Amino acid sequence: MEYVIEMLNIRKVFGNFVANDNITLQLKKGEIHALLGENGAGKSTLMNVLFGLYQPDGGEIRVKGQTVKISNPNVANDLGIGMVHQHFMLVDTFTVTENIILGSEPTKLGKIDIKRAEQEVRELSERYGLAVDPTAKIADISVGMQQRVEILKTLYRGADILIFDEPTAVLTPQEIQELIQIMKALVREGKSIILITHKLKEIMEVCDRVTVIRRGKGIGTLNVADTNPNELAALMVGREVHFKTEKREATPGKDVLEIKDLVVKDARGVTVVNHLDLTVRAGEIVGIAGVDGNGQSELIEAITGLIKAESGSIKLNGKEILNLPPRKITEAGVGHIPQDRHKHGLVLDFPIGENIVLQTYYQEPYSKNGILNFKNIYDKARQLIKEFDVRTPDEYTKARALSGGNQQKAIIGREVDRNPDLLIAAQPTRGLDVGAIEFIHKRLIEQRDQGKAVLLVSFELDEIMNVSDRIAVIYEGKIVAIVDPKEITEQELGLLMAGSKRKEAGVSS
Ligand SMILES: Nc1ncnc2c1ncn2[C@@H]1O[C@H](COP(=O)(O)OP(=O)(O)OP(=O)(O)O)[C@@H](O)[C@H]1O
Ligand SMILES: [Mg+2]
Repeated sequence: MEYVIEMLNIRKVFGNFVANDNITLQLKKGEIHALLGENGAGKSTLMNVLFGLYQPDGGEIRVKGQTVKISNPNVANDLGIGMVHQHFMLVDTFTVTENIILGSEPTKLGKIDIKRAEQEVRELSERYGLAVDPTAKIADISVGMQQRVEILKTLYRGADILIFDEPTAVLTPQEIQELIQIMKALVREGKSIILITHKLKEIMEVCDRVTVIRRGKGIGTLNVADTNPNELAALMVGREVHFKTEKREATPGKDVLEIKDLVVKDARGVTVVNHLDLTVRAGEIVGIAGVDGNGQSELIEAITGLIKAESGSIKLNGKEILNLPPRKITEAGVGHIPQDRHKHGLVLDFPIGENIVLQTYYQEPYSKNGILNFKNIYDKARQLIKEFDVRTPDEYTKARALSGGNQQKAIIGREVDRNPDLLIAAQPTRGLDVGAIEFIHKRLIEQRDQGKAVLLVSFELDEIMNVSDRIAVIYEGKIVAIVDPKEITEQELGLLMAGSKRKEAGVSS
């Protein structure tokens, strides 16, 4: 039997909206099969059907040749299908092992045998090269490690067909390389993998075949060896995509953001931003490049008032904003596209239309004398949904029901529309398709050309190199170099990020 999974003409509707329109995907044993499509194309929906979270409205699913009905995830588990979701589903206060065995605990005389479970977790993790500490608490481990826990959880249940829904969107470049090695080890051991990713490079690097869908419809399946990133992008978006956004020289004006001698400590009292200086001027994009964990998150949280700084100064248009409440900082003219859109970006159970005015709902024309004006709120929402191409059935749909990428577009629209003097964009294109990335880059450059100061933080070196006018390299909580993207290579930038001095990195100043 060549195929381990056959999804034939799968149809799934939500109300009047057709999310999957007769899609076919066939997975061969031992292959890594990419599922590619724009934000909102229906990828997660299709995989949720395979995992038994949704019931299809039409079509047939075969597992190893047998037609099956996957009425819930337990049935999927029994059929050997495991899924690592786009948003993790771990219990923060439990340990790694407790999370892995949750729902299938080994028992000894009626008691959970945690020692045996830890041993099994250790063995699995060694066999597949998934380094984890079985006794660590989820809340204390990195995102990359949490993801390995999710993978181990599926392996512990005996899965041999693994679905990865955008596993690399939340990872740093280093972690992505580790995950790629893990996936290769898994297929060597006879597993088969469906991988959802927006990163065409990853598809070219690890996948055998790729199935492309567009707006709920199947476009076709190709051998990766016979295609290339340009063709894939065009197939999924339906038009040609430019990977590098054109922009003219920046014409920077006055200092908008001036940070001097900023010190921030984390919850454990460790100094994470260490006497940092940084200036961003009107009409320029400054990109912060750094390896995750060098203080970039805390820097942004301090500017936006989400955490308290120890000392130093942060001035916006000459006025001190250090340690002001977040709303005061917003009102002073700071827009923020947050790194974690679920924690700081959206109220998931509110309609997307109301989320779009989340920062300004208490101001006119959205509210007067404490009474919300829903007509004005939804007029604005409709305008932004159109302008930022947020794909949603309508403006009343809960934010939760939007695809990951469309949630992100909604936040970007909201923040840009507020017309802030300083726009902070933290990982703004995380989880976005190539067409949407191009769109967002254009909007950031447009903001710059309108005289805004833009501070961009990204782990994607391509993005930093293409969009920034100046690059500030952050290392151990300090800006260690300011470089011109036109005068540096990605390799040299990588060396600076790893803490080597400018000369060693081959950069003259
Ligand atoms: N429970 C639901 N109720 C209503 N609409 C839904 C629901 N789940 C998904 N949709 C809609 O179906 C479409 C497909 O969503 P899906 O999450 O499958 O997209 P995706 O291809 O995974 O996108 P992304 O790359 O952004 O994650 C979207 O327009 C979404 O708004
Ligand atoms: Mg998705």
